[in-house]
Amino acid sequence: MIDIRIIIAAILLGLLGCKTESDQPLSVNSVNVISVDTSKTLSRIAFGSCSDEDEPQPIWKYIVSNEADLWIWLGDMIYGDSDNPKVLEEKYNEQLANLEYQKLLSSTAVIGIWDDHDYGENDGDKNFAIKKESKELMVNFLNIDKDADVRKREGAYQSYTFGEGEKKVKILLLDGRYFRDELKNNIVRSGQRYHKNEAGDILGEAQWKWLENELSNSDAAIHIIGCGIQFVPVEHNYEKWANFPMAHQRLYNLLNQTQPSRAILISGDRHIAEISSIQLDSLDYPLYDITSSGLTHSYEKVDQNGEPNQYRVNNILSGQKNFAQLEIDWSVVPPNVKAEIRGLGNHIIYEHQLYK
Ligand SMILES: [Fe+2]
Repeated sequence: MIDIRIIIAAILLGLLGCKTESDQPLSVNSVNVISVDTSKTLSRIAFGSCSDEDEPQPIWKYIVSNEADLWIWLGDMIYGDSDNPKVLEEKYNEQLANLEYQKLLSSTAVIGIWDDHDYGENDGDKNFAIKKESKELMVNFLNIDKDADVRKREGAYQSYTFGEGEKKVKILLLDGRYFRDELKNNIVRSGQRYHKNEAGDILGEAQWKWLENELSNSDAAIHIIGCGIQFVPVEHNYEKWANFPMAHQRLYNLLNQTQPSRAILISGDRHIAEISSIQLDSLDYPLYDITSSGLTHSYEKVDQNGEPNQYRVNNILSGQKNFAQLEIDWSVVPPNVKAEIRGLGNHIIYEHQLYK
């Protein structure tokens, strides 16, 4: 007969063993991650933002089931909110341990750029004390190649060109945190959280030069430009490019000057989904800003009247949890693109053909 004490000891050792194992910090190396293959033609690009590592994440299974060619994070990949790199690392590891997210990593190429919560500071700017350490953690979380340009320079901005010949898509991920000037709180009750920083900058000179070069010397058919914060809306109370009027105009001027083929802006941050559109003088197509946020939590009670946006397309605004997809039709020249906002259950909240 087996001694009952041996059985109890074995159970206890087993439990201790398990505990020791789960206490080991996970790294992206321990997860099956498919690599980013830029030779691939992109026909379906999915993106989204604002995912709390402590919240349930049921939306990934719908994103995975659609088999997009690429997933783009547009910030708030974790709610880090700490100036302690260890805390950020633990939260990234918690996200990597999410089994639904692991299914995305093993099936879909993933790239991304941070916003404020993953950067480490709510509405954070260039003065954030651990921005260097935070960037290192983010590029590790995204499994970015050891010899990638983004690892060799200040800031987290990145460029990818997918596809070949007539079917190139260039993706430019802008870093709206690392070099961003300060915003001053607006104490006067004007309805705006911040005073505009009239002469302030968002990108910093090195990133502006890089962006000009990327847009000037590009033969891509589609240019997707992503940033955590919204590009086009001007009225709302929160963070937006319009809080920095000079930088905002500089971006529009650069697009007018370089006239990239089919530039599409994508953004997150707001915990709502909407599509905004503006006509720039020198572009022969409408410039869209497609906002998708958030993946785990959203502004369920959003009200059109409380969220004015003169550039909103079709007056559709959603406060449901959501992600977005761009469907590229390569059978026409120039390619046409359909934008979809999808929610839980994979249902289409809103779709819009970008070019007639
Ligand atoms: Fe967020």
